[in-house]
Amino acid sequence: MSDTILKCQGISKAFPGILALDSVDFELRRGEVHALCGENGAGKSTLIKIITGLYAKDSGSILYNGSEVKLKTVQEYRKAGISLIPQEIHLAQELTVAENISMSNYPRTKIGAVDWEKMYAVAAELQEKIGFGQDAFTPKSIVRNLSMGHQQLVEIMKAIATDSNVIAFDEPTSSLSDDETEQLFSLIRDLTAKGISIIYVSHRLAEIFRICDRVTVFKDGKYVGTKNINEVRIDTVVSMMVGRELTQFARGTSYVQRDKTAIEVENLYWRKKLKGISFKLHRGEILGLFGIIGSGRTETARILFGLEKDFTGTIKLNGKKQESLTPAKSVMNRLSFITEDRRGEGLSLGSSVKWNISMPFIKAVSGFFSFINHKKEHAIAGGLIQKLRIKVPTMDTPASSLSGGNQQKLVIAKWLGAESEIMIFDEPTRGIDVGAKAEIYKLIDDLASQGRSIILISSELPEIMALSDRILVFRDGEINAELTDVKSLTEEQILHFAIMKTKRSNDLCS
Ligand SMILES: Nc1ncnc2c1ncn2[C@@H]1O[C@H](COP(=O)(O)OP(=O)(O)OP(=O)(O)O)[C@@H](O)[C@H]1O
Ligand SMILES: [Mg+2]
Repeated sequence: MSDTILKCQGISKAFPGILALDSVDFELRRGEVHALCGENGAGKSTLIKIITGLYAKDSGSILYNGSEVKLKTVQEYRKAGISLIPQEIHLAQELTVAENISMSNYPRTKIGAVDWEKMYAVAAELQEKIGFGQDAFTPKSIVRNLSMGHQQLVEIMKAIATDSNVIAFDEPTSSLSDDETEQLFSLIRDLTAKGISIIYVSHRLAEIFRICDRVTVFKDGKYVGTKNINEVRIDTVVSMMVGRELTQFARGTSYVQRDKTAIEVENLYWRKKLKGISFKLHRGEILGLFGIIGSGRTETARILFGLEKDFTGTIKLNGKKQESLTPAKSVMNRLSFITEDRRGEGLSLGSSVKWNISMPFIKAVSGFFSFINHKKEHAIAGGLIQKLRIKVPTMDTPASSLSGGNQQKLVIAKWLGAESEIMIFDEPTRGIDVGAKAEIYKLIDDLASQGRSIILISSELPEIMALSDRILVFRDGEINAELTDVKSLTEEQILHFAIMKTKRSNDLCS
């Protein structure tokens, strides 16, 4: 038996206006974890979609267990043991976990009816197998009520429901908590111990260096090279990916205007998830909200933007008490919310890139009688596309055909065009490559220097530490600590506040 399970040679794939893959090679060995790296739009998702039967290649050859692959549908690929855990989750939102898992292959009773008991049992067994207990969700949970992280786990259960030989993970940890990430890593180790081969696409290089055996790098649809992880350094991989000097980001001055308050929140309660949140955001301030998933950061932001009802407490914008909040009012109040969920609230996927960027500031580019000023719209959109290095053939391309990371950049561009006074960023660099991250940090810093007020929600400590003037650490629906002297803190100290309950806030800073 050969050591190689999958061999791709000279694979090309074109989309309208773009050559996504230009004769790339990729070789996967039995039982290895093989990372696939590259900037946003490099062609990573396209290759693994071809390998798993979602897209057809234009040219090239794929050998699976030594013979040319002649399969057609995703189901055929899955049956043959090749499955994909996609970057964007594609579960049926209204169905249960168990129904999603058995979707193409419902268990039947002797008389041909759906065997519900068996279906739930199959799901429970898979949940057990991936090492996740039923505290968070059960086979009968409706998928729509699950967090993104848990939906990702359901995708994983689906992939291992059939006996796989090759599993491709596309950014699997981007919406998982630290604990869930650790559990996923141990699951991956179990899978490889059984001889299963893993393709691992991620922008998190630290993870790649922890769990992968080899790494292949693509740039602009071309193959750059393959290295053994234990013989290569992170900076070498980075320079293979970006092929240029990286802009380093370090924050200099702070622009906080202490005497001017942009937002004041007092005693915010919501369902059982927020338990008396109070804080102020000053003009020109970057206020970091840190905490583990479910600690109440995103919920607070959603309430501020008007996406959740039934809260109690006071919210003042620029000193004015808000009786009710809706997203439309927020936009009028020059408040914007850059979400982590680009498919839901972030973008209109069927619309063009240009339309998406101009949506929130359509008023600003409209002339007399609200006719859209197309020239101005074009100029602003073009400027933002360049600044954020969004990879797109033309501005009329639908947002749906952008790569995952480029869609995320588009969400940011959309709100930058709106020229808001207060901006809430929720995980702004999720899925964004190392090269573009620094550009986004610089943009956020620029916004603060112009006197805008910023709330930055991030699970990445280095990111929150590099940008914030002040950090509020959330824990279990409360603000557990307010940290003002950010530069003197270590990651461990901040993490401590996210996990351990404190009586005194500002422990470290006073
Ligand atoms: N269905 C599609 N229709 C049109 N263009 C597409 C489609 N899918 C991908 N592309 C284009 O092909 C190129 C490669 O995209 P791909 O999704 O493979 O990138 P990626 O390396 O996965 O990037 P990211 O890190 O942002 O996820 C991009 O320019 C993208 O816009
Ligand atoms: Mg991708």
